[in-house]
Amino acid sequence: MTASHGTALITGASSGIGAEFARQLAAQGYDLLLVARREERLRALAAELQAQHGIQAETLAADLSADADITRVEQRIAAHGNITLLVNNAGFNVPGPLTKIPFERALEMVQLHVVATMRLTRAALPGMTARRSGAIINVSSGAALVPLPGSATYNATKAYLNMLSECLSLEVGHKGVVVQALCPGFTHTELTETQGMKEAGLDRLPRWMWQTSDAVVAASLRALRQPGRPVVVPGLHNRIMFAIATFPLMRGPVRQLVRRMMR
Ligand SMILES: NC(=O)c1ccc[n+]([C@@H]2O[C@H](COP(=O)([O-])OP(=O)(O)OC[C@H]3O[C@@H](n4cnc5c(N)ncnc54)[C@H](OP(=O)(O)O)[C@@H]3O)[C@@H](O)[C@H]2O)c1
Repeated sequence: MTASHGTALITGASSGIGAEFARQLAAQGYDLLLVARREERLRALAAELQAQHGIQAETLAADLSADADITRVEQRIAAHGNITLLVNNAGFNVPGPLTKIPFERALEMVQLHVVATMRLTRAALPGMTARRSGAIINVSSGAALVPLPGSATYNATKAYLNMLSECLSLEVGHKGVVVQALCPGFTHTELTETQGMKEAGLDRLPRWMWQTSDAVVAASLRALRQPGRPVVVPGLHNRIMFAIATFPLMRGPVRQLVRRMMR
């Protein structure tokens, strides 16, 4: 067993990248507070990681698109008093034009990606700055960096996470708190296996464009130890692609290419 680093609260820990954060942080000796809607999955993961690593792992079932549930998580953060790492990871996508996807689902996305992240960050930050140590990882996406038709709300909410992380890192970096926006590219998880994403053509992408959640989380945790990197893009292929796509002279050609590909 490794020495405890305190407690990591991970949202969306019931599958994919969030569950992988739980595994790698437990291996590093973090105690865990796991949040998502599917409580049986959280409980099974908590039991497995407690047995494997001798850490404490608690679960909290919450729908973070609902105000009342966000309030319960805020209260748990306050009652705990010592969350040392907050991973705002819970997220989803509903591919389709803005006027065609159900309004409720688009609103849920804003609540989950923007409102829940902002509220949980406000709840956890004061303790971290008072202790002059801690970290917040906001799981954003490469979608924050490149405009895509059929993904307006997803991309826009992820862009919020990048700017939130960059601003906060300037606000609290000198108080010992690291803030990171993690921008994965295509990653094998339940999200990319959904029927809607297959219909959007994800299963036609070449293999080299994909990463495992294991590699994505390892890159994020490595970068936490390298201060001054508020935006982290895991995977060399993603860094090259996004560097080209965000280079000012390339923005026009990239938009045309994306429009042609999405037709
Ligand atoms: N996979 C990719 O290619 C990719 C690329 C870039 C960024 N990302 C981002 O990575 C993050 C994790 O996604 P993933 O790929 O690991 O997908 P995933 O396997 O589908 O996991 C999504 C997690 O979010 C939770 N969640 C969804 N809605 C929620 C809600 N209303 N309240 C609480 N929890 C909720 C889910 O738990 P419950 O259903 O149990 O609530 C689940 O644990 C997301 O923010 C996603 O945007 C993924």
